[in-house]
Amino acid sequence: MLVPNLKQAKIRTKNKIEIDKYKVDETLKNLGQGKKYFLKTYGCQMNEHDSENIKAILEKMSYTETIDMEDADLILLNTCAIRENAHNKVFGYLGRAKNLKMRKPSVIVGICGCMAQEEVVVNKIINEYKWMDIVFGTHNIHNLPHILKKAIDNKKLEIEVFSCEGNIIEDIPVKRDSKYKAWINIMYGCDKFCTYCIVPYTRGKQRSRKKEYILKEVEELVRDGYLEVTLLGQNVNAYGKDLEEDYGMENLLEDVAKTGIKRIRFVTSHPWDFTDKMIEVIKKYDNIMPYIHLPLQSGSDKILKLMGRRYTKEEYLELHKKLKKALPNSSITTDIIVGFPNETEEDFKETLDVVNNCKYDSAFTFIFSPRVGTPAAKMKDDVPFEVKQERLARLNELVNKYSKEANLKYKDKVVPVLIEGYSEKGDNILMGYTDTMKLVNIKCDKKYIGTIQNVRIKEVKTWSMDGVLEED
Ligand code: SAH
Ligand code: SF4
Ligand code: F3S
Repeated sequence: MLVPNLKQAKIRTKNKIEIDKYKVDETLKNLGQGKKYFLKTYGCQMNEHDSENIKAILEKMSYTETIDMEDADLILLNTCAIRENAHNKVFGYLGRAKNLKMRKPSVIVGICGCMAQEEVVVNKIINEYKWMDIVFGTHNIHNLPHILKKAIDNKKLEIEVFSCEGNIIEDIPVKRDSKYKAWINIMYGCDKFCTYCIVPYTRGKQRSRKKEYILKEVEELVRDGYLEVTLLGQNVNAYGKDLEEDYGMENLLEDVAKTGIKRIRFVTSHPWDFTDKMIEVIKKYDNIMPYIHLPLQSGSDKILKLMGRRYTKEEYLELHKKLKKALPNSSITTDIIVGFPNETEEDFKETLDVVNNCKYDSAFTFIFSPRVGTPAAKMKDDVPFEVKQERLARLNELVNKYSKEANLKYKDKVVPVLIEGYSEKGDNILMGYTDTMKLVNIKCDKKYIGTIQNVRIKEVKTWSMDGVLEED
């Protein structure tokens, strides 16, 4: 049993990060013969992409996928730890899995992802969820075949969670969810340690992948007919700062653009490391999408300082202005936390002021959720919960007003849309995203799936738009 340790997770070692290559263990390639796995994913794109790796690892062991938990021999929840409600959802789901396991004892139930990296969660599992079979961390994905084998052989809870990151593992197999757009990790971990955030503890220190591996992956995707890549990292602008060679995000963006892939996106940008050179490169290449996610978190200098964000309201607004000037047709979105400890009505109004200034295309808004082990969880929190809820509602109202306004600019315009598949709206309605990341529903033939088409926007709503194909 290898359980996570919060103190160790905080440590940033000077250990040199090497590159290891993933090898399929031929002796385990029939372990899942005739068996089905069910994998449910919570959290961010990083987790979505980890799930694509986990699926491929399992399929190399002859497991096949099912989307019906009742039908599964292996149930895995790839979890997120960012807020308390993410935790609650997972424990709720585990209750359902337990019911199934009581009826079908051979089923293997496990969790992985960011919650598995938390000491408090694993302690709870050891004490209250002994019936579970496996827990493995974000740094242990490559070892899944062996963890699974041990759990099956020993018939008892198998836990393998490294508290500290190991080397970068290249060549992990991947089963991509889409045939047209792909996630690519360009870096792992985060060293920013914003005071509210659990990610630096669950994902380890910042480790950038070498450009050769990233570019090779993009080139292969181009060859396979992919149209879009999203470069993933907790703060992609800091890409390369941990590498020996002098090669940063602006260089990587430029090299990825030169591969000729039709669309390049990147998330998430931290306002702190956004350089003028990066802005120049985004402007220069048509295949770098004019869409920037620029988390604000708060508009109050006092709160930003308590959050450890290392920029002021004025610096943020200046960067936003610079981006809009250089990329006038871009869309800019953000993340905002309300109800951080010590946030007064005045502080909150500073946040509203930034929203009024930046008029975001959309925003993800959250109530502060204390995470065990983070500095903010120890701060005295004197903001009543009802006040936090009321602030969230006021913020959402303003954010939605600007989302609708931003979308209205698209009415009757013709925009390129990568048509991805069927819309949730059903019947012959397809969906896709504009270069600026606006969701568009289009009534057209399914032969257009997997192509970029010019679409005329007919109707505009707060979160989506309806359009028709523009005839040539
Ligand atoms: N790396 C990204 C953020 C990833 S987490 C960045 O720095 O921008 C996504 C969002 O979740 C954050 O931007 C923040 O708004 C929110 N978040 C993170 N920790 C939180 C917490 N403890 N309570 C509430 N929201 C939180
Ligand atoms: Fe969390 Fe801050 Fe790192 Fe983003 S930059 S993952 S908010 S610590
Ligand atoms: Fe959640 Fe981990 Fe992503 S905490 S947001 S899944 S990095």
